[in-house]
Amino acid sequence: MRFTTSAFLLGLFASATAHFTLLYPLPRGDFDEDLEPNFCGGYTEVTTNRTTFPLSGGFFTIKTGHAGFTVGALLSTVADPNNFDNFSVNGVDQLAYQYAEEASAGTFCIPLNISAAGISGVKDGANVTLQIVFAGGDGNLYQCADLTLSANLTTPSDATCSNATVTASTTASSAAASETSTTTSVGVTHQASAAAAFLFGIVGVAVALL
Ligand SMILES: *[C@@H]1O[C@H](CO)[C@@H](O)[C@H](O)[C@H]1NC(C)=O
Ligand SMILES: *[C@@H]1O[C@H](CO)[C@@H](O)[C@H](O)[C@H]1NC(C)=O
Ligand SMILES: *[C@@H]1O[C@H](CO)[C@@H](O)[C@H](O)[C@H]1NC(C)=O
Ligand SMILES: *[C@@H]1O[C@H](CO)[C@@H](O)[C@H](O)[C@H]1NC(C)=O
Ligand SMILES: *[C@@H]1O[C@H](CO)[C@@H](O)[C@H](O)[C@H]1NC(C)=O
Ligand SMILES: *[C@@H]1O[C@H](CO)[C@@H](O)[C@H](O)[C@H]1NC(C)=O
Repeated sequence: MRFTTSAFLLGLFASATAHFTLLYPLPRGDFDEDLEPNFCGGYTEVTTNRTTFPLSGGFFTIKTGHAGFTVGALLSTVADPNNFDNFSVNGVDQLAYQYAEEASAGTFCIPLNISAAGISGVKDGANVTLQIVFAGGDGNLYQCADLTLSANLTTPSDATCSNATVTASTTASSAAASETSTTTSVGVTHQASAAAAFLFGIVGVAVALL
């Protein structure tokens, strides 16, 4: 009985919070929540409609309803990276963006200077693949974007860069979340709705039961 209860609650927890979307650069294919724990979010094959991306001074934008997560970005210079090995050299991950924690939920535009990472093969005209790694407490999630690097492109013209934090939503439809926008810094909000506090309390119990 205990198992049934906690399994149900964990299922609820997972469907409510454990995903993120990559808004820019565009990922390899349509978002599939069920495949997000897999390599490249389930898209193993390279795409040919690559995003032309700045070698220096770029950014990536993610959106999540999950407050309290860690995000990083792996980079592969392999032409057709289709497994995690292709994002590492001699067993060491090639990180274009070091893992960083974020306390809030919302939309985050994160600076990405690919040329600063010191990765071999990164140069003007190079085809590379970015793999965003997101950890919200219940396993890693992944999204990949295939890029062609450009030295003379500094500000992506087809994307806006701003942050907007939301009050962590705990329902499947996160549309009701209230938004606070900022283009300079992320406001760390410790307030949660009574419903959110209640659900997190239940999740705590569910985890404790395991
Ligand atoms: C490439 O095409 C796929 C399939 O139509 C699409 O999901 C993806 O967003 C496109 N990528 C870019 C960078 O436009
Ligand atoms: C980069 O990828 C594009 C699209 O797949 C391809 O047409 C082009 O030849 C590739 N460039 C290099 C330098 O490999
Ligand atoms: C990106 O990194 C390179 C190498 O460290 C540096 O020269 C350049 O100024 C950086 N660009 C930005 C926009 O920070
Ligand atoms: C990509 O990874 C696979 C599996 O580890 C490996 O066989 C292949 O040589 C790698 N490709 C390149 C270009 O390193
Ligand atoms: C930037 O470089 C690309 C090739 O990488 C070239 O096609 C384009 O004309 C260049 N743009 C400018 C403004 O120099
Ligand atoms: C958005 O938030 C991230 C993570 O805190 C931060 O690195 C970035 O500079 C912010 N972007 C803007 C446009 O404020």
